[in-house]
Amino acid sequence: MTVATPDHSSSSLQNAAETPLQNAPLFTPLTVGDLRLAHRVVLAPLTRMRSTQPGDVPNALNATYYAQRATPGGLLISEATQISLEGKGYPATPGIYSEEQIAGWRVVTDAVHAKGGYLFAQLWHVGRISHSSLHPEQGLPVSASAVVPTEGKTLNAAFQPVDFETPRALAIEELPRVVADYVHAARSAKAAGFDGIELHSANGYLLDQFLEDGVNQRTDAYGGSVENRARLLLEVVDAVIAVWGAGRVGVRLSPWGKFNSMSDSNPVPLFTYVLEQLSARGIAYAHLVEPRANGGADGSLDTSAPDAAASFRKAFPGTLIAAGGFLGESASRTVASGEADAIAFGRWFISNPDLPRRLQLGAALQPYDRSSFYGGTDKGYTDYPTLEETSAR
Ligand SMILES: Cc1cc2nc3c(=O)[nH]c(=O)nc-3n(C[C@H](O)[C@H](O)[C@H](O)COP(=O)(O)O)c2cc1C
Repeated sequence: MTVATPDHSSSSLQNAAETPLQNAPLFTPLTVGDLRLAHRVVLAPLTRMRSTQPGDVPNALNATYYAQRATPGGLLISEATQISLEGKGYPATPGIYSEEQIAGWRVVTDAVHAKGGYLFAQLWHVGRISHSSLHPEQGLPVSASAVVPTEGKTLNAAFQPVDFETPRALAIEELPRVVADYVHAARSAKAAGFDGIELHSANGYLLDQFLEDGVNQRTDAYGGSVENRARLLLEVVDAVIAVWGAGRVGVRLSPWGKFNSMSDSNPVPLFTYVLEQLSARGIAYAHLVEPRANGGADGSLDTSAPDAAASFRKAFPGTLIAAGGFLGESASRTVASGEADAIAFGRWFISNPDLPRRLQLGAALQPYDRSSFYGGTDKGYTDYPTLEETSAR
């Protein structure tokens, strides 16, 4: 059985030692919107399901986790954080809409800033990947259309794997409210001291459900043509730019992504249009998930699809972050070739809090423990040692 957790990464070799000199391109400065980064090793957004309950409130342990991964001038992207209760998809993921959540995130952003790092909030509405047990008052999950995910299971509020529910299609009159929820979350992120926001429009969550015609079967102004399917995302982008300014807004997309039962009949024109529109708005960065990171379970390695960053580079000449299956050498090559400007690391950054330093030195990487990815305590979260801590033991 596959449980559709937010991890859509494939398994890969562990403990790979790296070649220091070839990593040099990763350690040159980079302008990302209004920020000037000192290096190009980015923390990918990583759901860890460890917020304080009830209320989905970030806490001191979460602050320690992010601070451990912060470096002077380095960019961290937060775990996906729901913009509303309706947008919540898994137990214990943090929110960014209540006063308590804002105060909790403030502890996190202060800790990252104390280390000289930057932190963007990844704003998230899961759409049909939600489960009614997570928001009993609001009933069924919502989506572009009433199309149920075909593969795997989801997690209910009690962390148990359960079948997906058929979502309720959002009425066109409700969409301004969804945009307003994003605006409220964007304002909340500002109040919490983040340095910017990333819209999660990847991996089969709500904005992606509107983009791709495997889910979006609407016949109104938000369905059908590429322009119509991109309308909700671009309305949200414009609305959050009004809060933050374009130089503080990033967007994550997964053009070839199949995770969460996604598909599109013709992804190249769709994502070319979306990226051209984002480029015209001058956003801080586009963040593309590479196809080799597909699959909800270990072992699924999708080599059939072309590289996302290389395929869409022309459509988005601005700052491009690529993520999915990178190690130091492949990251360095990708940056040196100009296909991407920075690389976001997920699993290796979980188990190597000092990943930028390890990549720079060509040091061995510690293996990650998949069983502690989601939920739990400090184990597998804040207890991975740095190089210095290892040698002191
Ligand atoms: C534990 C875990 C949680 C994840 N949570 C998120 C998330 O909240 N938002 C998101 O956009 N991607 C999420 N992803 C995907 C990662 O950001 C990244 O794209 C993926 O792990 C591939 O990169 P990697 O090969 O460096 O791990 C998650 C991945 C993992 C392993």
